[in-house]
Amino acid sequence: MKHFRMPFVGLLSATLLFTGVSGVQTASAHEAPLRTLADRADLRIGTAVDMAALADDSTYRRRTAREFNSVTAENVMKWEVVEPTRGTYDWSGADALVRFARDRGQAVRGHTLVWHSQLPGWLTSGVADGTIDAAELRGILRKHISTEVKRYKGKIYQWDVVNEVFEEDGSLRNSIWLQKLGPSYIADAFRWAHAADPKAKLFLNDYNVEGINAKSTAYYDLAKRLRAEGVPVQGFGVQGHLAIQYGFPGNVEGNLARFAALGMQTAFTEVDVRMILPSDPEKSAKQATYFRGLLDACLGTRSCKSFTVWGYTDKYSWVPGVFAGQGAATLLDEEFGAKPAYAAVREGLAAGR
Ligand code: G3I
Repeated sequence: MKHFRMPFVGLLSATLLFTGVSGVQTASAHEAPLRTLADRADLRIGTAVDMAALADDSTYRRRTAREFNSVTAENVMKWEVVEPTRGTYDWSGADALVRFARDRGQAVRGHTLVWHSQLPGWLTSGVADGTIDAAELRGILRKHISTEVKRYKGKIYQWDVVNEVFEEDGSLRNSIWLQKLGPSYIADAFRWAHAADPKAKLFLNDYNVEGINAKSTAYYDLAKRLRAEGVPVQGFGVQGHLAIQYGFPGNVEGNLARFAALGMQTAFTEVDVRMILPSDPEKSAKQATYFRGLLDACLGTRSCKSFTVWGYTDKYSWVPGVFAGQGAATLLDEEFGAKPAYAAVREGLAAGR
């Protein structure tokens, strides 16, 4: 499909529109937002959303709405948040995000249903002390998936059903799911999610699977086998947490293409590119090429339907809290100023597919 591109005069009138009565422009207001360019490229451009920031910070709220046509809950759809006490649910954060997105014409990615991390304490301690046995655990997982997916039925276009299940060497992660239920929990999770919302696209999702390596090949083999068995797994999510000091991954397009050849969608689901602090112009320029490299791989692959960044301002990025001495991993600085990475993403989207 050929997409209409806004001619130069169109951009010019957008410039005039965003110039307030004072005649003062904000740094980005003279440019079409990312989502406008993404619409033309038939791509969802997304961000993870920090719900505390969304509630407290009006600049964050405005920018989240303006730049993105897709949102992912950074934390509020995770199990420990939605069912902190067994049988007692807290959907307040997830509901608020879905409402925010609906009111602003944004699609919602669901994140995440089966994970080894951020599990509620009642679940992990019950498994550890033996009060929850394998049969009960399977029922608990089924109920969790069915309840959450049904609640947002028709409102979520892609679900990260199964998250981070392989180790770097391609062996299955030794999580409580594998230990207690065996590898069949993966197929079960997809079947249960599909029964709850047959229209949502159901994804596997992981980090360090951008290029072709042992881990991404383990996903490829798993997806191929599951699809041959008729299991409803329809997407492969590449998180895209990169670091400039480790180099750009090899053969990203080739990796996406092999999943496409299985008839699957692909997506970049959590892109950020960290660096060792302090940042400098050279590092920022390198970072920009990494964002652009992943975006171009997506735009070059028809089956790649969404490109989501894991936070878009350094003000709320998870990176410094986890990787000491590293950060500056997002498109905008802590004052929401555009970095070269933002310009690179803009240009990539403007160039289209
Ligand atoms: O909710 C509590 C809050 O009540 C408390 O005051 C605060 C004190 O530190 O902690 C809050 O929980 C934290 C939560 O983020 C919300 O801020 C958790 O401790 C913290 O562990 C959690 O970190 C999240 C992390 O997943 C957990 O593993 C990050 O924000 C989130 O960005 C990160 O996202 C993951 C993806 O889900 C999967 N892929 C990797 C990615 C990055 O690690």
